[in-house]
Amino acid sequence: MQALTLDSLGSLRRSHGCGEVEPGLLGREVTLAGWVHRRRDHGGVIFVDLRDRTGLVQIVFEPDTSGACHERAHHLRSEYVIAVRGEVRRRSEDTVNPALATGELEVFVHELRILNTATPPPFPIEEETGVDESVRLRHRVHDLRRPPLQRALTIRHRLVQSVRSTLSELGFIEIETPYLARSTPEGARDFLVPSRLQPGSFYALPQSPQLMKQLLMAAGFERYFQIVRCFRDEDLRADRQPEFTQVDLEMSFAGVDDVLEVLEEVTARGCLEAAGIELPRPFPRLSYPDVMARYGTDKPDRRIALELRDLTEIFRESGFRAFRQVVESGGIVKCLPIPDAEELSRGEIDRLERFVRKELGGRGLAWIRVMADGSWQSPIVKFFSEEERAAVAAAVGARPGMVVFFQADQAARANAILARLRSDLGERLGRTDGREHDVFFVVDFPLFERDDEGRLTYMHMPFVAPVEEDLDLLDVDPERVRSTHYDVVMDGLELGSGSLRNHRSDLQRKILEIMGYRPEEMDERFGFLLEALDAGAPPHGGFAFGYDRFVMVLAGATSLRDVIAFPKTSRGQDLLLRAPSPVEPAQLEELGLALAPRRERP
Ligand code: AMO
Ligand code: AMP
Repeated sequence: MQALTLDSLGSLRRSHGCGEVEPGLLGREVTLAGWVHRRRDHGGVIFVDLRDRTGLVQIVFEPDTSGACHERAHHLRSEYVIAVRGEVRRRSEDTVNPALATGELEVFVHELRILNTATPPPFPIEEETGVDESVRLRHRVHDLRRPPLQRALTIRHRLVQSVRSTLSELGFIEIETPYLARSTPEGARDFLVPSRLQPGSFYALPQSPQLMKQLLMAAGFERYFQIVRCFRDEDLRADRQPEFTQVDLEMSFAGVDDVLEVLEEVTARGCLEAAGIELPRPFPRLSYPDVMARYGTDKPDRRIALELRDLTEIFRESGFRAFRQVVESGGIVKCLPIPDAEELSRGEIDRLERFVRKELGGRGLAWIRVMADGSWQSPIVKFFSEEERAAVAAAVGARPGMVVFFQADQAARANAILARLRSDLGERLGRTDGREHDVFFVVDFPLFERDDEGRLTYMHMPFVAPVEEDLDLLDVDPERVRSTHYDVVMDGLELGSGSLRNHRSDLQRKILEIMGYRPEEMDERFGFLLEALDAGAPPHGGFAFGYDRFVMVLAGATSLRDVIAFPKTSRGQDLLLRAPSPVEPAQLEELGLALAPRRERP
């Protein structure tokens, strides 16, 4: 074999994508370009799967018909970049590949140009192979060539087109807001950017454009949107990234119904146009107290056909101390009944109990199994009175085969643990209702909640307007005040959230005051917002979709990292760019910064 010299593309023009080769082209000449996906040498005849963004097609080099380019085809290796000219033919019956869209056809090559060689890929560019995620992130260029990311980023593109056109048609205009900004109150830690021109001062990258969009409403733009990067320095999970994208919107002279109408249109059209998913409309509206009671979380996957039951009243005066004491100290007793759960073994229940104690911080996991003869197997029923037994049986609808898991704890933890068990067990036992997708609004959240020290604080953010009928409660019983906040939940993920805002400064100040702000603090932190409200702000409200999460649902991905081209690890690193990284001492000096002695992270 002679040494390989590379060709240039020259005047060769691609006529089709690899995935676009179809029977209508039989006998015609096509010009294709792409990557060598796989090469097989069948004693003389060389087969190559050629890949580009549109798909795969088999190309064939024959010693007789392909001439000189057959000789050159011996040089081809995985991921080499080539262009070919050849004739589309039908494959013989026995070589048809039904797994491939182009599987009945092949292209007989008579001209080959080798445009570049390639180092051997670190893993096969094929869908099926599992590869460790850190390796995929380190070799992101190869990973991005694989079908799942090609598909996810294509959906991402289509969704943004859809959102833009829907919102534009609805009269929203796109306005950019600064990234070099000031701290905003979404409650995560800020990413700070030191200022060279104002030594000792810092910009904060926005956690969202919340305040700016409210200023735009005061400024009379009436309908604003932006597809915008947000930055939050928080501990990362599968559905969180330190920088992520929001479809952010705000509208004036609007009530809750007006905003939800827009959200439904954006969501439904987005699902249809980006992924062909048709959602039943109108989207149901569920109240926060109701979803918490039934599912233990405000973003349940309702396709899992299991619901929680509250048993607090049954155990208020119970002889079972473990439960009664929890209720006496203001906690709750709730349970998750699972019908027909014979397959849950005793060993598995014991493992779940250890998991709840060790991983979820629970105090235990009491359970009851209803046997075939109706008797109960359980570590706790011996403590129940006859009436308690009967009341529990009625509340859960006890019948043979059922297993019931109990949590007695403060409401937040009891709910969180049962919600987790509901989704884990529901999925494992296949208790889904068969719907492909489930989407709904959650409304009627409380305006305030108690922080760890028992002080009143906002549940979502400080600018949310209360429900008008509850205004009178602000002075007497603020905890009962409902907010205008709403979420869109799809398939167990919070797609986004929003609310109406306080557009009058007196109400805004009063709410800040209830949360313990002194007037000077209000002016210091939010003075520019309060001034804008006083400048004649119209009533307004809005929303922000977590765009990456939206794509994640549409792509059926389980991690945000699988729908973002260059994501960060759970430790906030970009393994490809090797960011973050140390900087030169001179750069620090210019910024007036000095590093404190390094603290090791635990
Ligand atoms: P919120 O803080 O609820 O509201 O954010 C809106 C949506 O953004 C998504 N999201 C994230 N996605 C990926 N990684 C993260 N770290 C992350 N954090 C949030 C979620 C969430 O529902 N200004 C308000 C919106 C408004 O009221 O208009 C806001 O930012 O899907
Ligand atoms: P104990 O009396 O601690 O042996 O607990 C008896 C059973 O009740 C065990 O299965 C525990 O896991 C369970 N249990 C104890 N406390 C709680 C609680 N607060 N919530 C749920 N189950 C509990």
